Amino acid sequence: MKKGVVYVVANWKMKPGTIGEAKKLFLDVKKLAPRLSNTKLVICPPVAFLSELRKLYAGTKLDFGAQDIHTEPKGSYTGEVSAAMVKSIGAAYTIVGHSEQRSLGDTNDDVNKKLRVALGEGVRVILCIGERERDNSGGYLSFLSEEVRVAFKDIARKDLRNIILAYEPIWAIGKTGKDAMQPSDVHETVLFLRKVLSELYDKKSALALPVLYGGSVEAENAEALLKEGGVNGFLVGHASLVPTEFGTILATAETA
Ligand code: PGA
Repeated sequence: MKKGVVYVVANWKMKPGTIGEAKKLFLDVKKLAPRLSNTKLVICPPVAFLSELRKLYAGTKLDFGAQDIHTEPKGSYTGEVSAAMVKSIGAAYTIVGHSEQRSLGDTNDDVNKKLRVALGEGVRVILCIGERERDNSGGYLSFLSEEVRVAFKDIARKDLRNIILAYEPIWAIGKTGKDAMQPSDVHETVLFLRKVLSELYDKKSALALPVLYGGSVEAENAEALLKEGGVNGFLVGHASLVPTEFGTILATAETA
């Protein structure tokens, strides 16, 4: 069977602190890129650094992404950054709906607007969803279903090829590898998400859409999550700031 692409998305969040440190980190990560053939690497640095880092790379083995964009394509929105702006400085992707942005006020409708604006500008989307907690009564499933249904409202089937879904349970973010979600639970949730997608579109489209896992992915748990979690890759936070650790995750993706 033909192996599918494995996505590894690095979410640097608001780190590192200076452009000098960001360049150093990027140059370390860049060294890993030529070894990739089956893995799609996307680096999402702070937007303030994106343009400078883009200048340090001319190859095709990695792409850049923004961590967020504004809901509107343009206008008087002090402090905000538009999809067209991030595209113009080299972002092929943007994260949308990250729980840290949702906690600042982004609603499901805002996430849908951002998704549409990004696609309209030709920026591919890494759409984050994830429950705050897991309850025994399965309430988290309706929560996830609602996040997906609203995010994909008015998104045409033809646009799905420009969307990657990243399942990030909020309770598993920013912990250690031991606290990440168990691969079997990831698998179960991914199946559920694909079922929701197939209800919105069709089975073929639902199966074709890449679904990533995020939440304390580290070198030690990457292999099990990839083999048993039923995912097409990872969204990596803190481990993407440590080149050796991140290198192991990339090597795992490459041999998956
Ligand atoms: P983490 O972050 O890998 O540090 O848990 C993931 C994320 O928030 O995207």
